[in-house]
Amino acid sequence: MKSIVIANWKMNPQILREASGLFRAVAKGVRGIKNIDVVIAPPFVYLPLLEVGRGKSVVALAAQDSFWEDRGAYTGEISPTMLKALGVTYVIIGHSERRMHLGETDEMVNKKIKAVLKAGLTPVLCVGERTRERVNEIPVFVGEQVKKALVGLKKGEFKNGVIAYEPVWAIGTGTPDTPEGATRAALYIRKIVRDMLGGNVADSLRVIYGGSVNAGNAASFISRDIRGMEGMLVGGASLKAEEFIEIVRRVSAQ
Ligand code: 13P
Repeated sequence: MKSIVIANWKMNPQILREASGLFRAVAKGVRGIKNIDVVIAPPFVYLPLLEVGRGKSVVALAAQDSFWEDRGAYTGEISPTMLKALGVTYVIIGHSERRMHLGETDEMVNKKIKAVLKAGLTPVLCVGERTRERVNEIPVFVGEQVKKALVGLKKGEFKNGVIAYEPVWAIGTGTPDTPEGATRAALYIRKIVRDMLGGNVADSLRVIYGGSVNAGNAASFISRDIRGMEGMLVGGASLKAEEFIEIVRRVSAQ
């Protein structure tokens, strides 16, 4: 399975000039790197403005969120069709920062997943436990999040989808999960998806890791011999072009 590395810029950078500079530097830097999907998720306001040059690059665009309705009286919201029209291909759904600071619930995440799929976009569902579980413990909480996010989907839906395992305790802390812990979570997530949506979806799904990823640790999470982690969701390190390009390079070489 082809790996995928996604840059989640979160609410950065502050000005368009910096955003386009970073986008251009990354697009240029990853041009020669083969067999990997590279995705950048900037804040909404930059999405239409980063289009320039995208045709030539291998970088795809993601949104950091989407509303579940297509149009109407929902002040401040952005719909999946609007994103699709801008050339966005992936949408991050249910990031822990939205769950934490904006009260996003599993039910809302579920509605957003369905809306994004209906619009023909690829969801990047984020799950992760808040506090570190005991070593060797199966992340039951994560399994519940996956089930609630995907409930009501038909067999075969979510094909080619992405699930990001991002333990909340590992985000922005400099303390990533261990590759073993992350792999265990990936296997468990894939099993749940298999039970819910069938083997086709489980086999085409990519499970990726996020939480204090940097150029030094990225490759250690990728397992080639089993269907473990097949990519990364990168926060802080994605704001430094050189470091992000190095992450892409190392993941693709793994
Ligand atoms: P950091 O890479 O800064 O830990 O953030 C991870 C994350 O939340 C990506 O979505």
